[in-house]
Order: sequence, then C-alpha cells, then structure tokens
Amino acid sequence: MNHKLPPLNYEFNALEPYMDAKTVEIHYSAHHQGYVNKLNAALEGHPELQEKSLKDLLKSLNDIPEDIRTAVRNNGGGTFNHNLYWKIMTPGGAKAPKNKLNEAINSSFNNFDRFKKDFTELAGAHFASGWAWLYMNSEKNLKISSTPNHDSPLMEGHTPLLVLDVWEHAYYLKYQNRRPEFIENWWNLINWDEVEKIYTEACQ
Ligand SMILES: [Fe+2]
Repeated sequence: MNHKLPPLNYEFNALEPYMDAKTVEIHYSAHHQGYVNKLNAALEGHPELQEKSLKDLLKSLNDIPEDIRTAVRNNGGGTFNHNLYWKIMTPGGAKAPKNKLNEAINSSFNNFDRFKKDFTELAGAHFASGWAWLYMNSEKNLKISSTPNHDSPLMEGHTPLLVLDVWEHAYYLKYQNRRPEFIENWWNLINWDEVEKIYTEACQ
C-alpha cells in the first residue's frame, strides 16, 4: 500500500488573506508531497509495514526496524501532521467551537479565550520547527502541547484534534519572522466543524 497525498478541499487561494496562495501551494504540493514520497521510499522493501495504517505506524515506532525508524518518524509524522493541518482549516470557518467540544474546552481550560491564549503562547514560544496541538489523552481530557520536528501526541498514544504548523515554511513568504501575527490570523481559518467531528469520533 502506497501512502497518498490527500486532496486539498479548497483552492490554493481560499485561505487568503490570512494564508497566501503561494504558501499553501508550495506547502501542500512540495513540502507535504515530499514527506509522502519519502515515507513511501522508506517503506520500500517492507511489505509488512506497508500493510499498516499511517496512524498504526506512528503509534508503534519502536516496532519499526531501526534503519528506517527515523525516516518513518520524520516523514510519516510529516505526512500525518499535514494531513490533519489541511483538514482542520477552511475558508470562513466558525470563530469558535460549539456543542460538546465547546463544553470540553470550557471544562479543561475554563473558557475558550483562555484556551486560545494558552495555545497561542505555546505556539509562539515553541523554539524552531514544530507543531502546536490540542489533543485528547487516554483519560479523555483535553490538553495542549507543542512538539519538535514532525513529532505528535499520536506517538505518545493520544488523539490529536487540532494542529498548527509553526515551521517557517508555513508562514515565511507572507509573514517572514512575524510568527505571532501568523498565529493570530490562523484562528480565522479553523474548521471547528471538522475538529468537533474528530473529537466526537475519538470519544466513542
Ligand atoms: Fe509544514
């Protein structure tokens, strides 16, 4: 089984003005596609691993032969994280979560504004390349964290719900070194319906 680049559900320019078309095009067509290609290359000659889903590969990295473990971690992680990233964004999305996810955020972080502030600070403070996450742990509590490179809470057995890419390739063309401005604008792009769907499925 070859891993594939999932289709993008909107045009490259659909996230303007917060995320420019050129950044989306290069990020999706070159960076994301590159991780998919390198993941497939790493799995060549390992039919038993090609049978596994991407999530299963990343949840049990210790079972991967050592000579390709780092390649699977980096490129499988890069593939999974970007798959989720594009999915949880949409043009003109709702400004905040609703329903059960809203209740869960309120009970875990006091209120939405507090969650937004904590997440924004975490993403802004993350040193160098990485990702900021909202995830659900095995006790079904919501948590936030940041991870280096293409690591994710999935590798620790948690369920990622929402993710922000803070690699420079995610914002440098439009924002240069102004990561805080990129993060602030990114809140306008979240597809809360999709995040709620992932959360609801994870609760079952
Ligand atoms: Fe990225």
